[in-house]
Amino acid sequence: MDWDTAVTDHLVLRSLRGAVDYLAEELRDVSGGARINVLRRHHDRLDVELSGPLSALRGLHFYSECAVDLGVLTDAGDLSAGPLADRLRHSLSSGALSAMDGAPELRFRVGDLGDARWQVRDRLTDAWGWVNSPRHWQVNLDLVEGRLLVTLGDLHLTRRQGRLERLPASTTPVLAAALVRLAKIPDGVSLLDPFCGAGTNLLLAHAMAAPGLILGSDLRADAVRQARQNASYRTAPLHVVRADAVRQPWPDASVQRVIANLPFGKRVGSHGANRTLYPGFLRELDRVLTGDGRAVLLTEDKRLLVDTVQRTRGLRIVKEATFGSGGGHPTAYVVVRSRGQARRRSRRPIAP
Ligand SMILES: C[S@@+](CC[C@H](N)C(=O)[O-])C[C@H]1O[C@@H](n2cnc3c(N)ncnc32)[C@H](O)[C@@H]1O
Repeated sequence: MDWDTAVTDHLVLRSLRGAVDYLAEELRDVSGGARINVLRRHHDRLDVELSGPLSALRGLHFYSECAVDLGVLTDAGDLSAGPLADRLRHSLSSGALSAMDGAPELRFRVGDLGDARWQVRDRLTDAWGWVNSPRHWQVNLDLVEGRLLVTLGDLHLTRRQGRLERLPASTTPVLAAALVRLAKIPDGVSLLDPFCGAGTNLLLAHAMAAPGLILGSDLRADAVRQARQNASYRTAPLHVVRADAVRQPWPDASVQRVIANLPFGKRVGSHGANRTLYPGFLRELDRVLTGDGRAVLLTEDKRLLVDTVQRTRGLRIVKEATFGSGGGHPTAYVVVRSRGQARRRSRRPIAP
């Protein structure tokens, strides 16, 4: 990929329901000589016009995939003549596809295109000289609400963020970025994820903010191993230990920010187990959080979390945000100290 040459193109940036505003905000701050105008907002994606180098999109956290939007596909013949063919020609000559290695002949695969699948494949090979390469593709063709999108492999989240070990219940990086955003992490503070799994939230916090101390813990030894592995891939200074969230190894009033994706009872745990786990965890949160602390807790077991916070005298919910993720709609609750409790607790440093 030629990251530095300026291109102009209409692109679709795919995000998550609930995180699109954060993506729009991130685009406003893009530097490096690029101009990005938002053309249309959808609940889980933005249509944008980019003028400038593709490197401008490389370091962003709130989209998972970037695609060239060719327009509404009515027939595979649209790829030979008409507006779709014109869009494709433009992208290959001065748009995002022109920056791909080997352009204009690209290695592609076709995703879920319904009945048009084989015709589109044949048209791309016969009329445009592209090479059907399902295993080593550079671009993937997909239909989203009838529009033919050409997704750029080099801008896919997994390639932008590097190697990442995952557990089946791992938080998606875009969702983790949204939790980090809600946590408002000042420079130098201590940050904890007491259900850290493979450490996704902590890695995103390291990439997006500058906490002074990054702590993670999980009940499972394999999760701790994966979190440490992920930290080593990025030389991120994560301090990860094996611990139960209801018996945390940290001193009283020692943690300023907490981010956690709690066991929901779907992939991990059960509602029955959560009825014991959530009260035990919130007691510990009340103990370790500083007076000015802030915690962002994501769950689908919403009623139980809200009831449990309400029964925990030292804590209250100040904000909530719901996301669309993996077919579910988890809510992130922002929890701070109850009024009057803030002044009673002071921060004590942790020496890991
Ligand atoms: C939804 S997953 C978190 C995923 C994590 N954010 C990631 O990206 O990999 C919940 C995690 O909580 C852990 N867990 C479950 N019960 C726990 C407990 N009592 N104490 C600490 N961790 C626990 C599980 O092992 C699992 O890794």
